[in-house]
Amino acid sequence: MSTQPIGVFDSGLGGLSVWKEIRQVLPHESMLYYADSANCPYGTRSAEEITALSETIVQRLLAQGAKAIIVACNTATSASIAYLREHYNVPFIGMEPAIKPAAHNTKTGNIGVLATQGTLEGEKFHDTRQRFASHVHVFTQVGYGLVEAVENQTMQSPETNRLLQKYLGYMLANNVDQIVLGCTHYPFLLPQMQAIVGEKASFINPAVAVARHAKTVLTLQGLLNESKDSPTYQFETSGNQEFLRQFVEKNFLVAK
Ligand code: DGL
Repeated sequence: MSTQPIGVFDSGLGGLSVWKEIRQVLPHESMLYYADSANCPYGTRSAEEITALSETIVQRLLAQGAKAIIVACNTATSASIAYLREHYNVPFIGMEPAIKPAAHNTKTGNIGVLATQGTLEGEKFHDTRQRFASHVHVFTQVGYGLVEAVENQTMQSPETNRLLQKYLGYMLANNVDQIVLGCTHYPFLLPQMQAIVGEKASFINPAVAVARHAKTVLTLQGLLNESKDSPTYQFETSGNQEFLRQFVEKNFLVAK
């Protein structure tokens, strides 16, 4: 049993979509969230750069007492989790491209994956695709501009809508009926995406499965917080602290 907080990080605000699910599944756990918004987006950076940025954040979270780290970023998971596991002696839980449930659920035999360039070019994605989706057609699309839309809070702008129409239109034109959200920023665009896709396809957000997996890992390692004290939530950023505070308050009704 440990009352220490869980560290959660992302290139920016996107990982808060994972934070939200962790809070649901692990309501007694305190959390430290770090948004690397000053260095966002990670998606077009090299794996070496992302690993260096991730390591700096992990050291910071560990110095604040994190007992486990959730890498709430698909791109950082793909680029750096193996390195982090090798060098730091706490459990690391990363994002999984949800190709397996998509391949299982599809009726048309066509699935779509919307993710960053870094994730789609990474080994993890290729391995998962080969393991679980060799019997279906996989249509991939880099979500250029979507991370920025969430970071800048322009999710409802005509430009963001145009990008979503283009990316999702490509999937629908290929008779895709399952769309994997392969970037933790994208769940914040779900209402707009659902309006475009309607009943034609379902979206899969891996955050729920990741939160459940985190619970399993903490349980197995004897790290669950079994005290009934109220959890504390802390939010830090390399970007604009006031902007982060407003975003958290607006989306999760938690004052910093
Ligand atoms: N939320 C990150 C992810 O899941 C966004 C990556 C980026 O900053 O480009 O991939």
